[in-house]
Amino acid sequence: MRWSGMQRGDNRFFKRKKVTVVGSGNVGATAAFLAAQKELADIVLLDVVEGVPQGKALDMFEASPIQDFNTNLHGTNDYADTAGSDLVIITAGIARKPGMSRDDLLSTNVKIVADVTQNIVRHSPDCILLVVTNPLDAMVYTASRVSGFPRSRVIGMAGVLDSARMRSFIADALDVSIGDVSAFVLGGHGDAMVPLARYSTVGGIPITELMSADQVTAIAERTAQGGAEIVKLLKTGSAFYAPAAAVVEMAEAILKDQNRIFPCAVLLEGEYGVNGYFLGVPCKLGGGGMEGVMELDLSAEESAALMRSLDGVKTLVSEVDAMGFF
Ligand SMILES: NC(=O)c1ccc[n+]([C@@H]2O[C@H](COP(=O)([O-])OP(=O)(O)OC[C@H]3O[C@@H](n4cnc5c(N)ncnc54)[C@H](O)[C@@H]3O)[C@@H](O)[C@H]2O)c1
Repeated sequence: MRWSGMQRGDNRFFKRKKVTVVGSGNVGATAAFLAAQKELADIVLLDVVEGVPQGKALDMFEASPIQDFNTNLHGTNDYADTAGSDLVIITAGIARKPGMSRDDLLSTNVKIVADVTQNIVRHSPDCILLVVTNPLDAMVYTASRVSGFPRSRVIGMAGVLDSARMRSFIADALDVSIGDVSAFVLGGHGDAMVPLARYSTVGGIPITELMSADQVTAIAERTAQGGAEIVKLLKTGSAFYAPAAAVVEMAEAILKDQNRIFPCAVLLEGEYGVNGYFLGVPCKLGGGGMEGVMELDLSAEESAALMRSLDGVKTLVSEVDAMGFF
């Protein structure tokens, strides 16, 4: 039997999107697999370690007949294979071990993220960057400075994960469907993140009306320590299922032009009285990337908490600046 007509790669009316995931460790590989199962795009998985992205991509592809998805997956160590990516998820870097804070990862991961960004931008100058590597607020700043991309195309993943954690804890405490729970966590992706109780609802009702103040405080504290809770249990690394699901949800919103409202780490240009720093705030994700920041009227207490979180981000950014990369 022979086919006549178009070959793969020929001009065609509709093309699949291309997503590159840099770092094929726990978060990267899980994100690639989730995105593949959702058929969001063809996927390139890249890592510095030879064989690992190739092996994982092939293994995932071999799951496609069973999981019933049509996605091409390609593992590589060569940035040339990432050329023309529409969206790139950066997960490369080291993860936390017990006793380490996210900030302890700074000096190693700045070098990695700067190098990755440079290579990605060379081959995909029009892509949208979603940054996952920790310490998140400093890494998304690094990717922004190295790429020179507008703020619509450099977005950090933190708030979607932190809010998902908070939603899980609320649903568990009130024994209600996770689908009816929404939650909002603002600020940096550190211990000073700001879980906003009055914007966290069950069936539209603020949790402050459904729980005692002590319960709300306990959930907010558990959310802020959500990453450390998993690190302590795993002992050899940090969370990856929920982080991967979070970044894939952001990627989906962009690739399908969904105009979803998510808390993301974005470059503020005067919003919330902040200029020039990445901070977790509600924004719209759609086909244009980060399409706009939603400015909430925060109470004095919430505002003060956001500014405390900003102080942590500023410290990290000044450490990055002192390393002299830009
Ligand atoms: N933003 C968040 O909410 C969030 C959540 C979870 C994890 N993280 C962070 O994501 C990062 C990855 O976590 P993980 O659990 O997947 O770690 P991991 O160790 O399992 O995977 C990291 C991968 O990056 C690769 N890598 C290292 N240097 C590279 C380079 N220069 N180019 C390409 N690949 C390179 C490693 O070989 C490894 O495969 C960590 O920094 C972690 O702290 C962030």
